Amino acid sequence: MEPLTRRPRRLRRTAAIRRLVSETRLSTADLIAPLFVAEGLDAPNAISSLPGYFQHSLDSLVDEISLLATNGVSAVMLFGLPSKKDALGSEASSEEGILQVAIRRVKQEFGDDVVVMADLCLDEFTDHGHCGVLDGLGNVDNDATLVRYQEMARAQAAAGVDFVGPSGMMDGQVAAIREALDDAGNIDVGILAYSVKYVSGLYGPFRDAVNVEIAGGGDRKSYQQDVANRREALVEVQLDVEQGADIVMVKPAVTYLDIIADVAHVVDVPVAAYQVSGEYSMIMAAAERGWIDGDAVALEQLTAIKRAGADMILTYFASALAPMLNG
Ligand code: PBG
Repeated sequence: MEPLTRRPRRLRRTAAIRRLVSETRLSTADLIAPLFVAEGLDAPNAISSLPGYFQHSLDSLVDEISLLATNGVSAVMLFGLPSKKDALGSEASSEEGILQVAIRRVKQEFGDDVVVMADLCLDEFTDHGHCGVLDGLGNVDNDATLVRYQEMARAQAAAGVDFVGPSGMMDGQVAAIREALDDAGNIDVGILAYSVKYVSGLYGPFRDAVNVEIAGGGDRKSYQQDVANRREALVEVQLDVEQGADIVMVKPAVTYLDIIADVAHVVDVPVAAYQVSGEYSMIMAAAERGWIDGDAVALEQLTAIKRAGADMILTYFASALAPMLNG
C-alpha cells in the first residue's frame, strides 16, 4: 500500500503537539461569572435548580468575588433580588436598591481589579415579572420601558458600574441608555448589550434563582426572538452596534452556536455569549446521576462556544472550572 501523504493523526499524537496546534484556547480571562445578590439576606441561600449556586448576601457576594479573582476570573455580572416589587419595578432604579448597593460595595472592595457588570432589566423588580412596564392592556410598553431603563442606567452608573447589561430586548434600548449615560457625564460606562436573546425554555432555573414568575402564565414571545429565526439576529446586532453597544451578546449559547458564528463574522466589537441556567443545570443534573463527566462536558461546551466565535462567556461554571484553566 502507498504511504498516505496526509496523516492528520500526526497532529494528535502527543499532548504537547495537541497543545501546539489547538485552535481554541479557553482561559479564565474569557469568563464572566453571573452572581445573584438578594436584599435582606444574612447568609447565602442555595438555589435548588442551579446546583452549587447561591443567592448571595452582600458579604457572601464579596467573598465569592474574592475567590473568583484569586482564581483569575475578574469579571462579574450582578443580578439583584429586591425585597419589594411593584408594577414599575421602582427598586431597580432607586439609590438604595439592592443592585446599586451591591455595585457600590463591590467597587469599594475591589476597585478596578474587577469588571463590574449589572443586569439592566426590570423583570426581577416588577410584580408582574415582565422585562418592562405594562400599558393599559397589559402588554409591555416598549417606549415607556426605555424611560425606566434610562433611570436604571443612571442609578447603576452613579453606583460605579463598569458595564450595564440591558437584557430586556426593547427596541432602541441601547440608544436610550447611551444617551442617558452620556447626558449624566458617564461617558466611560460601557454597554454589554444582550443583542440577540431568544425565547428559551433554558431560562427556567434562572427564574427560580431570581424569584420571577410571569403573571398569568405569560411569556416573553412579544419581545424576545423566535427560536426559528436566524437572519433577524443580524438585524438586532447591527442595530445595537449602531446605537453604541460596546460588546454584543448572544443568548443562550450552546443551543445557538450558529448564531454566535454569524454574529462573530459581521461585527467589529467583542462578542459575548451566555451559557444560560438551563444549559448549566442540564450538565449538573446528568453529572449528578453519573451519566456524564460534568467537568469534561462543561469544558467541551465552553470550548465550543469560543470555537464558534465568542470572545467571552458568561457561565455558571466560572468558579468551578477556573482552577482547571490557564490564566
Ligand atoms: C432578564 C434575564 C433573564 C436571564 C438573564 N437576564 C431571564 C429572562 O429573560 O427570562 C436568563 C439567564 C439564564 O437563564 O441563565 N433579566
